[in-house]
Amino acid sequence: MKKNLIVFGTRPEAIKMAPLVKTFEHYTDSFETKVCVTGQHREMLDQVLDFFEIVPDYDLDLMKPNQSLFDLTSRIFSELQNILNDFKPDFTFVHGDTTTAMVAAISAFYAGSKICHIEAGLRTFNLTSPFPEEANRQLVSRVTNYHFAPTDNSKGNLLAENIKSNAVVVTGNTVIDALLIGLKKIERNPSQEVLKMKELFVDRKVILVTGHRRENHGKGILNICKALKNIAIKNEDVIIVYPVHLNPKVQKPVRDFLSDISNIHLIPPLNYPEFIWLMNRSKLIITDSGGVQEEAPSLGKPVLVMRETTERPEAVDAGTVVLVGANAELIEKEANDLLENDDRYERMSKLHNPYGDGRSCEKIIDFIKKL
Ligand code: UD1
Ligand code: UDP
Repeated sequence: MKKNLIVFGTRPEAIKMAPLVKTFEHYTDSFETKVCVTGQHREMLDQVLDFFEIVPDYDLDLMKPNQSLFDLTSRIFSELQNILNDFKPDFTFVHGDTTTAMVAAISAFYAGSKICHIEAGLRTFNLTSPFPEEANRQLVSRVTNYHFAPTDNSKGNLLAENIKSNAVVVTGNTVIDALLIGLKKIERNPSQEVLKMKELFVDRKVILVTGHRRENHGKGILNICKALKNIAIKNEDVIIVYPVHLNPKVQKPVRDFLSDISNIHLIPPLNYPEFIWLMNRSKLIITDSGGVQEEAPSLGKPVLVMRETTERPEAVDAGTVVLVGANAELIEKEANDLLENDDRYERMSKLHNPYGDGRSCEKIIDFIKKL
């Protein structure tokens, strides 16, 4: 029997690896699968583990407030060594471009385990944006054995780096597998939080905001806050709902700048199914998130992306996503335009599924079974 170790540490990795963990539960005759969380995130990771009912076999519990990349990286390396030596996995699964993914991939390489990279081949080709994620995902690709690319475009990026085509499989993105699970559950059984939001937002246009990217820390966040304040003041019929990332470098400026504006609601990070319910209820989304750019086309929600570059060109091509940078004037201008210009709004809110049909995990496991 082959042994799998699935490693993740942050909220988005957990959302996108959870359906894979659950799908492997149907294959216990072929694989022994263990889950290792680094705890790079804590509360935001636990929200997802609770929702998907995943109890990790190993929890390194590494998060520290305001952690540095140096400290986090070195602590993940030293802890993972013990787990790899103890479990000796045939396959180690890592996801995307976080510090957890990069360190887990290199650790598995040192330990002689085959590396399976989920969400492989995303590129901006700009090492400063997103930072440090573009470097992380390129480093992971260098040591990966099997690359699970979400789209043909991401496969193309890997082939251009001389990775052999029989080591790359296009599967769609597991974020859509998670989205379908989450939507089904929240529609069948709306939580108290959803019922409260329904009542609070009745008859109001909702703009949903998230932001956390390192390259926006400092000046970028202040620009974003300035734009949100102006949008809120100009459009009294709008409610801006902003679940604020727990990073103190985000919490402090956002709360200092936006707490006193009556139609801006600053709330803690939402549970995943409640967040996707709110995406669906929103008129417009303003974000610098990667995952939200992938979910939005399937929900037909226009997104202003507060970044200079994106590794998700499919969502731009679909017409769902517009890049606005952390540029206060541009964020304000584009948001006001989408609130006023119905034709443009209609064009941007068509449903598209560039990231697949929610069956990515089955495709990943089909491939692994044949190895
Ligand atoms: C990380 C990832 C980023 C991903 C993001 C998802 C890296 C380098 N960055 O960035 O790619 O997009 O997660 O959200 O891997 N915190 C808490 N509780 C939590 C989570 C975070 O208090 O549950 C606070 C802590 O003070 C922590 C800080 O946020 O030190 C930063 O967390 P960290 O994972 O280092 O960076 P993110 O900006 O979250
Ligand atoms: N998300 C969530 N609660 C929130 C905000 C986001 O569950 O309050 C989900 C969202 O649906 C998406 C993922 O978190 O699947 C995105 O995470 P994040 O933006 O932190 O990271 P990124 O995708 O940019 O790496």
